[in-house]
Amino acid sequence: MTLPVDIAPPRGKLGVLLVGLGAVATTTIAGVFAIRKGLAKPFGSLTQMGTIRLGKRTEGRAPKIKDFVPLAGLDDLVFGGWDIFEEDCYSAARTAGVLEAGQLDQVRSELEAVKPMPAVFDQRYVKRLDGPNVKTGKSKRDLAEQVVADIRAFKQAHGCDRLVMIWTGSTEVFMKQGPVHESLDAFERGLERSDEAIPSSMIYAYAALREGLPFANAAPNLTADIPAMLDLASRTRSPLAGNDMKTGQTLIKTVIAPGLKARLIGVRGWYSTNILGNRDGEVLDDPESFKTKEESKKSALDYIFQPHLYPELYGDLTHVVRINYYPPRGDNKEGWDNIDIFGWLGYPMQLKINFLCRDSILAAPIVLDSALFLDLAKRAGMAGIQEWLSFYFKAPMHAPEVYPEHDLFIQLMKLKNTLRYMQGEELITHLGREYYD
Ligand SMILES: NC(=O)c1ccc[n+]([C@@H]2O[C@H](COP(=O)([O-])OP(=O)(O)OC[C@H]3O[C@@H](n4cnc5c(N)ncnc54)[C@H](O)[C@@H]3O)[C@@H](O)[C@H]2O)c1
Repeated sequence: MTLPVDIAPPRGKLGVLLVGLGAVATTTIAGVFAIRKGLAKPFGSLTQMGTIRLGKRTEGRAPKIKDFVPLAGLDDLVFGGWDIFEEDCYSAARTAGVLEAGQLDQVRSELEAVKPMPAVFDQRYVKRLDGPNVKTGKSKRDLAEQVVADIRAFKQAHGCDRLVMIWTGSTEVFMKQGPVHESLDAFERGLERSDEAIPSSMIYAYAALREGLPFANAAPNLTADIPAMLDLASRTRSPLAGNDMKTGQTLIKTVIAPGLKARLIGVRGWYSTNILGNRDGEVLDDPESFKTKEESKKSALDYIFQPHLYPELYGDLTHVVRINYYPPRGDNKEGWDNIDIFGWLGYPMQLKINFLCRDSILAAPIVLDSALFLDLAKRAGMAGIQEWLSFYFKAPMHAPEVYPEHDLFIQLMKLKNTLRYMQGEELITHLGREYYD
């Protein structure tokens, strides 16, 4: 059988380069090491635990996703990355305080071997941070070339066959697309003159895409979704995904909101607040970084509720999002949602959600899945925006002519249908007439 897409097999090692070796990154890396040793399970990871139904419901075919599509195995992953702090991943994980010390000690030597390369960093874009492990260069172009050199050196030193890069760094200040982002040529000229509108994250993304690496943005900052990067990604056939991983409160929002809308239950207000005490919380305490996060968090409800189609139900919705930095909680965030809803004849009701979650525990499997699926996309020759990976992101990248899909269940269907399509299996529409004819 000829398949619709030709997928190169995942031979050799896959290097996973993470920009920012903080809470999320170290929880991902330590987790993979622990899982590899059989010390823990990859809960939350679709690539490791998910199944996919094939054919009719009567056929009983539901292989694991990792047995259905050719993904890199966990044993074949090699981790690396950059950070502005010099500490290796063991001490960074201890600082982050997400995983227990006893668990980290079980994978200590592997974690200690992952040392951050000097970062491209400028405090202008992340006000609350400063660190010593930072590159110097004559221009942003020079810094980009240094990142390209890091990528090549890492590939060679670790004998990697392929690489992917994910921005797991801090949330940068809010930025809008400007002239320097509008074409590759303008962007490259901007690099030469160290244009202010090019934040550090874009320098990494540019280097990755130039080298043909898939790139994902796990944070909300403006990084890869600008015409210059899309053009570069298409020239080097690099897959792209982002932005801002869908974990805690937004994950629950995109589960609850489609349910309310499915039953035409109106929503007058949605008030979301969080307390968070990790370094991410500290960075987001800066109003400019918070603005980036706020924009990303707020868009989901508008797209799910479609107020232009349902003005009486959702036209007058007040949506407020707050994040308060509260050190005692560390990575264990607490979120509250108060949702003012109304039903038949307009009678009001309320829904209260109190989610005591662990941010990085929710984020780690998503980083892993994104890396493995982006590598699959690259081997399958799928370049540019990978809309099927919207499932993982709060502000999914999308083609300019369509609105982003935020409903978690539609996103999952899109993801699984993409895998079926890649392997020449029938797409599942859930029509189901055939069982009753
Ligand atoms: N944890 C979640 O559930 C979640 C969900 C969505 C998005 N995010 C985003 O993921 C990112 C990482 O979160 P975290 O909790 O790991 O934060 P963190 O503060 O623990 O880690 C971020 C790391 O990035 C480093 N960094 C900052 N700028 C850098 C640069 N230019 N180059 C290299 N390193 C740089 C910092 O030094 C820090 O170690 C944040 O932007 C956060 O908003 C997290």
